[in-house]
Amino acid sequence: MKPKILVARALFPEVLERLQHTFEVESNQLDESWTAAQLIAKLQGKWGIYTMAGERIDAALLAACPQLKICANMAVGYNNFDLSAMSTAGVLGTNTPDVLTETTADFGFALLMATARRISESERFLRSGQWKKWRYDMFAGADIHGSTLAILGMGRIGQGIARRAALGFGMKVVYHNRSRLDAATEAQCQARYVGKEELLQSADHLVLVLPYSAASHHAIGGAELALMKPTATLVNIARGGIVDDVALAAALAAGKLAAAGLDVFEGEPEVHPDLLALRNVVLTPHIASASVPTRRAMADLAADNLIAFWTQGRALNALNAPA
Ligand code: DGY
Repeated sequence: MKPKILVARALFPEVLERLQHTFEVESNQLDESWTAAQLIAKLQGKWGIYTMAGERIDAALLAACPQLKICANMAVGYNNFDLSAMSTAGVLGTNTPDVLTETTADFGFALLMATARRISESERFLRSGQWKKWRYDMFAGADIHGSTLAILGMGRIGQGIARRAALGFGMKVVYHNRSRLDAATEAQCQARYVGKEELLQSADHLVLVLPYSAASHHAIGGAELALMKPTATLVNIARGGIVDDVALAAALAAGKLAAAGLDVFEGEPEVHPDLLALRNVVLTPHIASASVPTRRAMADLAADNLIAFWTQGRALNALNAPA
């Protein structure tokens, strides 16, 4: 008998079809939003769940779903998983690393360019019919080439951004991370390790690529923003909650920071109204990994994790070692 799984969100039909070869699948192609109670109800009798980083898997859900054995996230980030509760409950978590690294680094760079060079703001100006004549200082922004790029969080995506910056744009790259990279990787990325304070002070542009956890909650708040140059740009492609959005909006409004590019938000898909009211922010709806081939590769990898765990007893991207 095929084990039952729940696919919690809409998915590529081809990937759903692949899953149906191995599993009895309940899907959500209408992409309905479920409450925690509805998710628990849907999970009754299910061996596995295919999630997309929005579904919270915590002790309460695990206690109510004793048959659950695996949660496969179609995302590299997994802050929706309480991994320690999952380990205790004997539930495996998996994610989709590597396949999205270069696409996400591309987007980080795109958002940096759009923010520093005021692309969204100038397009809004043009589209609203305000462009009547050219002016010497019209939408003059900050340079990318030759400037100092500071990267907070130097995993695979951070390294991809560093390579683009150093090799493509002649930027000086500094980084801060929980642990320092080895010398060969630092040389490859042409990146210099610095303390967090120096990182913030030296940044012409700061890009955040660190994972969200209790430890990284509000890693960038009022105190950190106060250390930055008023001409600096901040880009967040990591997770909402790493930046204190209220403090950021206040710094931007007060001219203590030049601009921000944000792909992720505290409490998304809600966006703080103070951010929406500002002209000097570029806002995108959590799309850093959204190229068609990469989203398909992520979808396939999450499916592969479920299939491998059922057919071989081993997932490809295990995040924990369940009891
Ligand atoms: C990821 O893979 O973590 C992206 O942010 C999509 O959730």
